[in-house]
Formats: sequence, structure tokens, C-alpha cells
Amino acid sequence: MSDPAYPHLHPVMRPWADATAQVRIRNIRTDRWLGYARAEAALAAMDDLLTFPKRTRMPNLLLVGASNNGKTMIVEKFRRAHVSGGETDPRGGAIAVPVLKVQMPPAPSERRFFSAVLEALGAPDRSNEQLAAKQDMAMRMLRATDVRMLVIDEVHNILSGSRDQQRRFLNLLRWLGNELQIPLVAVGTSEALRAIQSDDQLANRFTPFSLPPWRMDQEYQRLLNTLEAMLPLREPSNLSDPPFAQKLLSAADGILGEVVSLVTAAATAAIEAGEERIRMEKLDDIGFMPPQERRRVAG
Ligand SMILES: Nc1ncnc2c1ncn2[C@@H]1O[C@H](COP(=O)(O)OP(=O)(O)OP(=O)(O)O)[C@@H](O)[C@H]1O
Ligand SMILES: [Mg+2]
Repeated sequence: MSDPAYPHLHPVMRPWADATAQVRIRNIRTDRWLGYARAEAALAAMDDLLTFPKRTRMPNLLLVGASNNGKTMIVEKFRRAHVSGGETDPRGGAIAVPVLKVQMPPAPSERRFFSAVLEALGAPDRSNEQLAAKQDMAMRMLRATDVRMLVIDEVHNILSGSRDQQRRFLNLLRWLGNELQIPLVAVGTSEALRAIQSDDQLANRFTPFSLPPWRMDQEYQRLLNTLEAMLPLREPSNLSDPPFAQKLLSAADGILGEVVSLVTAAATAAIEAGEERIRMEKLDDIGFMPPQERRRVAG
């Protein structure tokens, strides 16, 4: 067999390399999943929880990491991998939802939390209802749809409430786990960790799983290779070459989302300029502002 065209690309991307500039730019701008060891480990830990037998004290997970570092992508991937095939629950006739993901409302209001649960289940939510009625309805729906894992994203929002609200909400989390006997996966920044750890009983039920900032190492270089192989440029850019990788890492402040947006912006700019690879010198030209600087400007 002869060498394939575009050996630097992942086999599924090779046919894309011959597409027009416009088509390729669209492709580059589409979100794609990049596997990396820490994410695979997080997915495996969640799988482990999902198969855990029901018992009074269910183990929980707290996925912690800086903003924009891939937390939501992981739980979203997990949720999608566990969408039911549409089989209905024998008890309620509702479609089973094995993994339910909700967002913690901007303030820790129990009513708004249960509204979020009902909304995520596609259930009618009468917004003016009292907490008790809403909670009742949400709990019934959670059981009827056979939810086996509850993922709560943006859990650090708990901290935006008063001390009293925070305490009530943490109690609610503990109660939910006991009542449903399903594992909870909380997702948030290190502030979330602080919120959970402020409650002794919750602290020892939630195992923290961190997504640390990226460092210059093999895993990071592997990520760059994976990313490069997914971008339909006709020539290799060699992003994982140490000087190039280091430059990207500093510009991105070690944050995955920043690495991805920087590289995809550079890939788009390259195609627009009629070039077929990303050149390190070009990184400075694309108007990318490193996160620290952006914060400074915004602050
Ligand atoms: N596994 C991945 N594959 C490809 N791109 C990813 C991956 N993880 C993260 N990204 C990129 O990083 C961006 C941010 O990821 P994500 O939304 O998961 O961050 P987050 O940790 O949930 O941030 P926040 O705390 O602000 O909600 C994504 O929009 C995507 O572009
Ligand atoms: Mg997120």
C-alpha cells in the first residue's frame, strides 16, 4: 500500500483536507472531542459510580478545575454516552434518563434548583409553585425517569448565596443523595471544592477529581498532536515541537479551552491567508489576548 495523502491527519480528517477553504474553516470551528488521559480517567470514574450498587451512602464525585479547562465537556460527553435508547420505564411510562445534568442556578435557591431539574427532564414547570410542590414534582419525575446519576454543573454558584442559603443548599444535596440513592457528580471551580468542604458530612462523601492546568509534558504534547490531526490543514504544523508547544502553553495560561481556541483561530487565519500550516510566528498576529491580559482589560 502506498502512503496515504496527508499522513499528519487523522484518517477521518484526510478527505476533508481537499475541501474548499470555506468548508474547512467551518469544520475547524466546529466543536470536537479530544481525548486525553485525565478526561478518560474522569469518564472512567463516572462509569464506576454509575454501576455502583444502591446503598444508603452513595459515593459522589466532585470534578474540579479552573474555568474553561474542560469540565463541562467531560460531563456532557458522559451524559451523551448514556442517553437511553428510548426504552420506557415500566412504572411511569416515561423515557428513562440515566444521567441527568443540571446547572446550579446563579444563586443557591432550592426552588430554582428544582425548576432546573424539571426543565432538564422536559417536565412542565409552573414557576409560581411553592418549593414543596416543586420539590415533590421533581422527585417524582427523577424516579419516574429512572435517573441513575445526577450531575450538577457550576456548583460554585452555591457560594453566591448567604451563609444560611449555602447551608440549606448543602443540606439539600446531602438529602438528595440519601433520598434517591444515586451518585451525585458536582462540577465546579476550586471555589466549589471550598463550598463542599465547608460541610464535614458532604466533604467525606465527595471525592475530588481535579483537572489541573496543563504543563509542558508528554500528555500536553500528545494533546497538541491529537488537535493537529483533527484540523484539515494540508501540511503539518508540528504544534508539539517544544518551542511551539511552550509558546501556546504560555499564551493559553495552561488552560485547555484557550489552547483550543488559539490553535483553531490560527488554523483559520492560515487558511484565509492561503497557507497550509500554522506557523509559530503567526501566533502573535491573530489578535489573541492571553487570559491574564483579558482579565486585566476587563477588570
Ligand atoms: N475534551 C475536549 N476536546 C476538545 N475541546 C475541549 C475539550 N475540553 C475542553 N475543550 C475546549 O475548551 C472549552 C471549554 O471547555 P468547558 O466548557 O468544558 O470548560 P469548563 O471547565 O466547563 O469551564 P467553566 O468552568 O467556565 O464552565 C470548550 O468550549 C472547548 O472548546
Ligand atoms: Mg463549564
